Amino acid sequence: MEQKRHLRVLSKHWETDDTVTFTLEPTDGKPFDYLPGQYLSLIFVSNGQEQRRAYSFSSCPGVDPHPAITVKRVPNGEFSNYLLQHVEPGDVLESIEPNGLFLLPKKGVQNLFFIAAGGGITPVLSQLKSLLLQHTPKAQRIILFYANRDSRSTIFKQQIDQWIELFPDRFECVYFFSREKNAAHALYRHLNNELLEDMLHRYFQGRITAADRRNTRFYLCAPVPMMRMARMTLRVLDFPDEHIRQETFLPEKPPVPRPRDTSILHHISISGLDGATEFQTYEGETILDAALRQGIALPYTCKSGVCFTCLARCTSGQVEVAFTEASKQEGPGSMVNTCIGYAVSEKVALEF
Ligand SMILES: Cc1cc2nc3c(=O)[nH]c(=O)nc-3n(C[C@H](O)[C@H](O)[C@H](O)COP(=O)(O)OP(=O)(O)OC[C@H]3O[C@@H](n4cnc5c(N)ncnc54)[C@H](O)[C@@H]3O)c2cc1C
Ligand code: FES
Repeated sequence: MEQKRHLRVLSKHWETDDTVTFTLEPTDGKPFDYLPGQYLSLIFVSNGQEQRRAYSFSSCPGVDPHPAITVKRVPNGEFSNYLLQHVEPGDVLESIEPNGLFLLPKKGVQNLFFIAAGGGITPVLSQLKSLLLQHTPKAQRIILFYANRDSRSTIFKQQIDQWIELFPDRFECVYFFSREKNAAHALYRHLNNELLEDMLHRYFQGRITAADRRNTRFYLCAPVPMMRMARMTLRVLDFPDEHIRQETFLPEKPPVPRPRDTSILHHISISGLDGATEFQTYEGETILDAALRQGIALPYTCKSGVCFTCLARCTSGQVEVAFTEASKQEGPGSMVNTCIGYAVSEKVALEF
């Protein structure tokens, strides 16, 4: 039901001491479509088990000749370390088609704020390339708040510094360094709610109007506590929630598996992939796990409710979606994450 792709590594470039960009090329020569802000789900096999990891594109279609992903090492992380240490030009990686909803607005808006930290710059870089190097209205203002330890650990700093020089009327960047004083375009501060509020007030010259709120969008890609702080600050300033998008690399807490009761079964029907299929879940088993257990290849990546690869529309029945913060019961018309979705009704129909 899922389309697998194979991508040859064309180049491997160290961006910082712990981050590498891989440029890729599909081995089948077929088009490889993605949008700025989307990610690639790589498939690995470890101890006979399939494992997947998402990596956002740092490249931008129409700007860069080849798709590229940028991987930052996670201490003790299985696949980030494998990619950095062992994957070289000429190697072939397996993936599914690009995915993701961290997308730029379809219509141009006046102000676009990006708040990124560390590896969270990756999808933002792709979006900035699209905004700055493709067709952007001159009046649009793009502001990046980018938090890191210091200049040396700041991924894509050289590229961003060039844009600061090249596009002084359209692009502004403020770096927040926790361990470096007196760097250019940088504050030696942690970005907290007070500072963010202050910076936004300064940007809007002390008064944020209803028109400013309509004409501004925010894109967040940083650790969850920083994104929560930013969201709360934006809420206090009355920016509408639907004007804030965020990409989460890792949930704050992993989902907790539920005890399974194999004596209670739910019937699931799936449509919309290349054909219809039906299977059963046990009580306490996610819809995705039940499908995979029975050899049905539903799409997924993170299995923890943050990437949306597994999203399907519920067309009948009831599903409980167990996010770590809160569970929600969803019915017909709602989108549900099958990786953290449990059938509640005896029958559930989903459309991909
Ligand atoms: C939509 C999406 C886009 C992503 N884009 C990128 C990207 O562009 N570049 C990139 O480098 N990564 C990205 N990630 C994260 C990536 O998918 C992996 O989670 C990451 O590389 C860690 O995988 P691992 O196998 O090395 O670590 P694992 O073996 O899975 O984890 C090892 C340990 O590290 C912890 N851990 C895992 N990830 C992190 C983290 N990011 N920060 C702190 N602790 C962590 C885990 O909780 C665990 O305890 C993205 C994730 C998502 C969901
Ligand atoms: S697989 Fe990532 S949200 Fe379900």
